[in-house]
Amino acid sequence: MKNLLNIITIICVWLSFGCTDGAQREKSGEASFHRIHASSFLPSSSSSCVLSPRASSTKSSLQVVHRHGPCSSLSSEKAKTGPNHDDILRLDQTRVKSIHSKLSKKLTPQYRVSQSQSTDLEARDGSTLGSGNYIVTVGIGTPKHDLSLVFDTGSDLTWTQCEPCGKNGTSCYPQEEPIFNPSSSTSYSNVSCSSPVCDSLTSQGYYRNCSASNCIYGVGYGDSSFTVGFLAKENFTLNSDVFENINFGCGENNQGLFNGIAGLLGLGRGTFSFPSQTSMTYNNIFSYCLPSSADYTGHLTFGSSGGLSNSVKFTPISLARDSASFYGLDIVGITVAGKELEIPLTVFSAPGAIIDSGTVITRLPPKAYAALRTAFKENMSNYTSTMGRSIFDTCYNFTGLETVEIPKVSFSFRGGTDVEVDSKGCILASSLPNQ
Ligand SMILES: *[C@@H]1O[C@H](CO)[C@@H](O)[C@H](O)[C@H]1NC(C)=O
Ligand SMILES: *[C@@H]1O[C@H](CO)[C@@H](O)[C@H](O)[C@H]1NC(C)=O
Ligand SMILES: *[C@@H]1O[C@H](CO)[C@@H](O)[C@H](O)[C@H]1NC(C)=O
Ligand SMILES: *[C@@H]1O[C@H](CO)[C@@H](O)[C@H](O)[C@H]1NC(C)=O
Ligand SMILES: *[C@@H]1O[C@H](CO)[C@@H](O)[C@H](O)[C@H]1NC(C)=O
Ligand SMILES: *[C@@H]1O[C@H](CO)[C@@H](O)[C@H](O)[C@H]1NC(C)=O
Ligand SMILES: *[C@@H]1O[C@H](CO)[C@@H](O)[C@H](O)[C@H]1NC(C)=O
Repeated sequence: MKNLLNIITIICVWLSFGCTDGAQREKSGEASFHRIHASSFLPSSSSSCVLSPRASSTKSSLQVVHRHGPCSSLSSEKAKTGPNHDDILRLDQTRVKSIHSKLSKKLTPQYRVSQSQSTDLEARDGSTLGSGNYIVTVGIGTPKHDLSLVFDTGSDLTWTQCEPCGKNGTSCYPQEEPIFNPSSSTSYSNVSCSSPVCDSLTSQGYYRNCSASNCIYGVGYGDSSFTVGFLAKENFTLNSDVFENINFGCGENNQGLFNGIAGLLGLGRGTFSFPSQTSMTYNNIFSYCLPSSADYTGHLTFGSSGGLSNSVKFTPISLARDSASFYGLDIVGITVAGKELEIPLTVFSAPGAIIDSGTVITRLPPKAYAALRTAFKENMSNYTSTMGRSIFDTCYNFTGLETVEIPKVSFSFRGGTDVEVDSKGCILASSLPNQ
């Protein structure tokens, strides 16, 4: 790529604790900075995909792929580079807002359902989907029908679009794989309206209704997209593991969701989530590794897969306020270039933190962010700073530089666990408009 000159680089708190599976992290000994080739921040132009060895070798592991780029499971997305930064930021901001509002008050979701049943489901403070960039493939039904679902640790109910779409004013959005047809599966069953599972939709924050004696679920997202349909039970297949009677949403009326993708795999803490429903087998354990770029895959592994390397570190999962679905983490400190920042513990503990696969840019409490920014800027004072863009206020012009030295940033979590942020997780390369 020769158009390096057109690149400004933006630092942000975009933390990807990326996979070390494929991308080799340099064993950098004691140094408190990364020396990196400026060109490595640019999106790779590679058109081949490197598969995660763990996902290929572990029975209960799925490949996690980027929706766009060479590893995508959707052929129409293979050649694409994905949405631009502005779109990602816009979607990300909506998602973060909805998470904040869920955490700041105990919400009773308010839905408005207009004349034709469930065509206009609106959630005032519903969740949002974000950009939905990580995908796994699971088999639904008997015989199994492989479908690409967005991987989401921030919500619970798994759903996919279902036939018949387009009846009585309902519709499905365009999807690349054939839409799931319950009538061609021998293991499909509708959940009855009188069952406790149907009742629990309401307490878990979903819309609930009945059509004849069948249970109707609905999820409305903040950006006016929604999915409505039958709450149903099916056989779900992960590689060679088959689970019977998994509750999921068979969505016959879906709008404005992830174009091209069949639905969502809910990995939250709530009772509808996939880990909760398979806890007899997997004991509520799953692990994942997000691909560090679109030409690597990561993995989503259910159960304790064994063979954890000695480098795996642990921190307790905490309750995130009243939220039944989010996974809380306790951040206790931040280190920049080998120096721990002076941030009072309450700056982190008062708001709390969650980990969410659907949020792209990590947000920090303002005081913590300000301290991080100050330390980062101080260490980067050798470089020419340039104007900010959108939420990014710490930007540098790396034009003409072959290598740059970026201070290491690491986060400390409760239990004495320090996690160093990959340099690619700290820096977002941005092309200038009109160049
Ligand atoms: C439930 O569905 C019926 C139509 O089947 C509709 O008239 C009614 O408004 C719905 N109730 C709610 C709370 O959405
Ligand atoms: C459409 O709705 C009407 C009444 O609400 C019902 O009688 C009819 O069977 C429905 N058609 C389809 C194709 O679902
Ligand atoms: C899946 O569904 C079918 C019914 O079509 C059933 O016979 C089978 O036992 C189910 N479970 C497994 C593990 O395949
Ligand atoms: C589920 O309910 C729908 C709507 O009433 C019906 O068309 C379908 O046949 C039902 N499926 C099964 C397996 O009972
Ligand atoms: C940035 O931090 C590294 C590692 O501690 C140090 O070697 C370097 O001198 C620092 N640079 C500046 C400009 O402070
Ligand atoms: C960068 O900063 C360090 C101080 O850490 C200084 O020793 C070095 O000369 C500076 N390099 C340049 C190119 O200004
Ligand atoms: C970056 O620096 C180069 C020259 O060093 C300059 O031509 C270019 O306009 C600068 N870009 C920005 C965004 O400051």
